[in-house]
Amino acid sequence: MAFQSLPGFRDFFPAEHAARRHIQSAWRGTAERYAFEEYDGPPLEPLELYIEKSGQEIVDQLYAFEDKGGRQVALRPEMTPTLARMVGEHGRALPKPIRWFSMPQLFRYERAQRGRLREHFQWNVDVIGEPDITADVEVLSVALDGLTALGLGPADVVARVNDRRLLESLLLGAGVPRDRLGGAYAAIDKMSREDAERTKQRLREDAGLGPDVVDAVLALFAEDLAGLRSIHGGDAAVAAEVDRLESYFTLLDEMGWSRHVEFDPRIVRGLAYYTGTVFEIFDRKGELRAICGGGRYDDLLSAVSDLQLPAVGFGMGDVVLGELLRERGLLPTSAPSPDYYVVTITEGERPLLRRLARALRGEGRSVSYTLRQVGVGKQFKDANARGASEVIVLGPDEVTAGVAVVRTMKDGTERRVELTELGA
Ligand code: HAM
Repeated sequence: MAFQSLPGFRDFFPAEHAARRHIQSAWRGTAERYAFEEYDGPPLEPLELYIEKSGQEIVDQLYAFEDKGGRQVALRPEMTPTLARMVGEHGRALPKPIRWFSMPQLFRYERAQRGRLREHFQWNVDVIGEPDITADVEVLSVALDGLTALGLGPADVVARVNDRRLLESLLLGAGVPRDRLGGAYAAIDKMSREDAERTKQRLREDAGLGPDVVDAVLALFAEDLAGLRSIHGGDAAVAAEVDRLESYFTLLDEMGWSRHVEFDPRIVRGLAYYTGTVFEIFDRKGELRAICGGGRYDDLLSAVSDLQLPAVGFGMGDVVLGELLRERGLLPTSAPSPDYYVVTITEGERPLLRRLARALRGEGRSVSYTLRQVGVGKQFKDANARGASEVIVLGPDEVTAGVAVVRTMKDGTERRVELTELGA
């Protein structure tokens, strides 16, 4: 019987693994340039950690089961609750703000569709312990620089930004009762993916709003930030939130991101714990699902620990991002090839081959060769198939003379090199 992998799970053959590594090294390199420290946690957590804290959507997608000790456990569907738990345990002693990043593999039992799988790798970058808007700016800047490092600019991607505090004040102003805010958020969150009639229906039926309130809510989404200020600025709560969001945009502009960011009042985020700025990054053409999502979550730490610390961060998945990069020709399509391939004319050069290969590897070069002596033609064919940059030919005459012939594969040029120069 031939087995297959489970639906929504990927095999990483060497070419795909090279693509994954390309993305992950851009992520890690960017986070380190921003002086973030890498952490990780366990892939399996107590089920309780996600119930209530992450929101219904994620809870419905959990890989959850009872372990042999009778504990209710779940494979991590996201990293933020683990991060909150870890910082809650040891955060008191750490210098603030905490700047941490991680690249966990996450598991969600989603309906498999374009850009959505049942496992993915997610770059998480979070600042914990800083309530000021400058932390929100820092975090979004990391996300955008991660994409820049991969070759994606403002013509390729856009960050759509909002603030839940602004949305809350606008909705309250439009007549939404406080206890219906959750239902209204859920409808607004789906707005960009559904037609206007469906949104109306959700606001009426799921959120339980009357027709006048529904109209007042929908009118909010026709405005940009300046429009919201001129129409609703008389409401002190709205005016304060518009001010805050404007300073957020000013700081982003100072960092050079003005062409990458846009205000979008429909960005809410599906997760339950966000309390402030929220953002999602999309491909500019709007063909794919979100590449990245994040925001401020000031109450999560106190919900899972006895530490009260404000926090802001994001998660960027490798699936949608990988699709976009592949489309643009920005991903490697094969595994890395060897720097050197050593060819021996006769069995007699094999001891030298072994010595030379070890010496070159000791200097950090990658070296390949046939493990057993075979015909020279076959060795060259293999060197070609593996994409070696240079072939070192060891033959009896050259060895006696203490030299090797080195052929550069891309142009076929050959040169004689002293064996001592190669380290043998
Ligand atoms: P999220 O929006 O659930 O946020 O996920 C962030 C990103 O992970 C998405 O934009 C998407 O690219 C990717 N992603 C999520 N689910 C899947 C899936 N099933 N298949 C492929 N890619 C997926 C969070 O998880 C938050 N914990 C992020 C965060 C960190 N907020 C603050 N800190």
